[in-house]
Amino acid sequence: MSSWKWLPSFIFLVCLINLVSIVKSQFPTQISFLYECQNNGNYTSNSPYKTNLDNLLSSVSTNINTNNGFYNNSIGENSDRVNVIALCRADLQPSQCRYYVENATAEILKRCPNQKQAILWHEFCMVRYSNEAIFGILANSPMISGRSGENVTNTDVFYRELDVLLNSLHGHAAFNSSPKKFAAATRGVNDSNHPLISAFEQCTPDT
Ligand SMILES: *[C@@H]1O[C@H](CO)[C@@H](O)[C@H](O)[C@H]1NC(C)=O
Ligand SMILES: *[C@@H]1O[C@H](CO)[C@@H](O)[C@H](O)[C@H]1NC(C)=O
Ligand SMILES: *[C@@H]1O[C@H](CO)[C@@H](O)[C@H](O)[C@H]1NC(C)=O
Ligand SMILES: *[C@@H]1O[C@H](CO)[C@@H](O)[C@H](O)[C@H]1NC(C)=O
Ligand SMILES: *[C@@H]1O[C@H](CO)[C@@H](O)[C@H](O)[C@H]1NC(C)=O
Repeated sequence: MSSWKWLPSFIFLVCLINLVSIVKSQFPTQISFLYECQNNGNYTSNSPYKTNLDNLLSSVSTNINTNNGFYNNSIGENSDRVNVIALCRADLQPSQCRYYVENATAEILKRCPNQKQAILWHEFCMVRYSNEAIFGILANSPMISGRSGENVTNTDVFYRELDVLLNSLHGHAAFNSSPKKFAAATRGVNDSNHPLISAFEQCTPDT
């Protein structure tokens, strides 16, 4: 994520970097979640913060923008104020986006039952909420890396080529002229020294 520092005049809150995978069926049954419940304060179950958070999260899936797959909103005042952002992967249909975001907002509440700040990523969307400002602010954390169970044989070559590929996508994602700030490409010739690597990057569109 540190490579984003070369973009001083543009601020992107969170960038999702995932290996590309095709949506095989409309709603695959298995989704692996990566999430972080941040230890920056807790709310209690009968607090205004909880009420605001519930209201805000329940508004995400119906209001998420179908042009860019993005949603940002806040409810509440002062210490009870909750900010939320959500982003769907660029290749989803609006109905898929709503479905996955609804699932993700329910999951994040289940997995982070009393933290004031949390973020959840899965293959199809990202949801984040916080009592602190999160719109249009560059953040290198929270960040999570996930890995598949597959191994590469030549790690030196793989990481060198991966680095080139990811770096080549930053500008295309950030300056994409479409409402969805994403880019995808493959690199390599698919032999044992140059495995075919696929990459996908997507930024939130709040600048
Ligand atoms: C979200 O989707 C996953 C996979 O389909 C499912 O196992 C899980 O129960 C869903 N979560 C909620 C809160 O509905
Ligand atoms: C918040 O609650 C979690 C358990 O859900 C606990 O581990 C953590 O220490 C609490 N954080 C604070 C700041 O009280
Ligand atoms: C990948 O490598 C790890 C250890 O280096 C090993 O435990 C694991 O079984 C390997 N996975 C596959 C799919 O070969
Ligand atoms: C890359 O090579 C592997 C192993 O030789 C093969 O299974 C795979 O289908 C190839 N992928 C593409 C996109 O050609
Ligand atoms: C949400 O982000 C958009 C830019 O995508 C910005 O124009 C708008 O003011 C933001 N909304 C809130 C509530 O901050």
